Amino acid sequence: MPDHLQVNDNDELLIGGILATDLAEKYNTPLYVYDVAVMRQQMRAFKQAFANTNQDGAVAYASKAFACQAMYQVVAEEGLHLDLVSTGEIYTAVTAGFPMDRVSYNGNNKSQADLAFALDQGVGTIIVDNFVELALLQDLLAERQQTQQIIFRVVPGVSAHTHDYIQTGQVDSKFGFDLESGQAKEAYEIAQADPYLDLLGLSAHIGSQIFEEDGFELAGQRLVELCQSWHFQPAVLDLGGGFGIAYTDEHQPRRPEDLVQALIESVQRQCAERGLACPAIWIEPGRSISGPAGYSLYTVGSRKDIPGVRNYLAVDGGMGDNIRPALYQAKYQAVLANQVHGQVAETVRLVGKYCESGDVLIDEQALPQTKPGDIIAVLNTGAYGYSMASRYNRNPVPTVVFAENGCSQVVVEGETLADLTSHDRAYQLVAN
Ligand SMILES: Cc1ncc(COP(=O)(O)O)c(C=O)c1O
Repeated sequence: MPDHLQVNDNDELLIGGILATDLAEKYNTPLYVYDVAVMRQQMRAFKQAFANTNQDGAVAYASKAFACQAMYQVVAEEGLHLDLVSTGEIYTAVTAGFPMDRVSYNGNNKSQADLAFALDQGVGTIIVDNFVELALLQDLLAERQQTQQIIFRVVPGVSAHTHDYIQTGQVDSKFGFDLESGQAKEAYEIAQADPYLDLLGLSAHIGSQIFEEDGFELAGQRLVELCQSWHFQPAVLDLGGGFGIAYTDEHQPRRPEDLVQALIESVQRQCAERGLACPAIWIEPGRSISGPAGYSLYTVGSRKDIPGVRNYLAVDGGMGDNIRPALYQAKYQAVLANQVHGQVAETVRLVGKYCESGDVLIDEQALPQTKPGDIIAVLNTGAYGYSMASRYNRNPVPTVVFAENGCSQVVVEGETLADLTSHDRAYQLVAN
């Protein structure tokens, strides 16, 4: 069980000091609940890693993991930066009142409209991914006679120890400028020659859910070597995110902040050995900030017991609110909210209510005896759950609640049935 799991003397699950069963009753299920204190703690732990190493830098929360205005407000309160990847995320940040100079903008296919919007909103740093984007940005800046801080995303050629779908740092990737073929150098030369481009440095992101530091260190080393070979003293090296978290008791990973501290020390060493002043180091953690803080609460519904085969237990959510198990066999664990450590009665396959056989939340979950109406909490669902939610089978996207210090509040209203049809239009062919 995660260290931060709160359980009262009656063996009931608390989230942010509130009974999970009360949250389920008040807001209905399926429900996403975030323990805000857990997120704050992780944000502070990352900042502490920089303080411990006396390293200048920034922790940019990669909000693709979980984005909404309230989350951006917490990120702002904690003094972090934001790493954003779409016009929608930028819009959310602007409307949340987030300081836009603390925003970096990633992504592999930013259109001219996307870039113009980012410039209009005063995005601090654009992380330029490819030559098409670079040319679009150059034209926009020249037209506006405006200077923009940029960073080049490069592909360090590092294969991280993780699932294939979430590897992004290897050579055969859709992201970033390639090193071997000279693309990165060419981009660097273009930036040097353009008075409107203020090149801060380089960025690399090698993948997600990574526990070993060697891949990160190698990527950091490649960036340092590259700068040295260009005689370029960067102001920033951005080492991306991807720090792994424990989804189940099988995982006993290093704490993400320890991994980051080791990485910072490694970059400091690399720079010292190569005679570079160590630049500011930026990191972009997403999952490690929001993942462990999130709970998905479901109500138990039907079941199907197949003697000698397995027991299926169905809950009122599933792949629409958490696609990760179906998408890349992600593993989770769950507890019965009113008997967290209750005596195990059976092992079930926890499934959702969507019309797909692949709608499995947890392949094998040991649980106490359950009955319809019981509340199940799937743990560590705070990253890439809500943010990847769909309306598959025309199920509304659930409510998101923040809980902290015994108080709870809706931060994203759940969709209603009326919301589901609100963008539908009756079909009536008319001559244009
Ligand atoms: C460029 C970049 N930065 C940061 C992240 C965040 O990764 P994670 O949520 O695993 O920390 C991602 C995730 O895909 C990414 O692509």
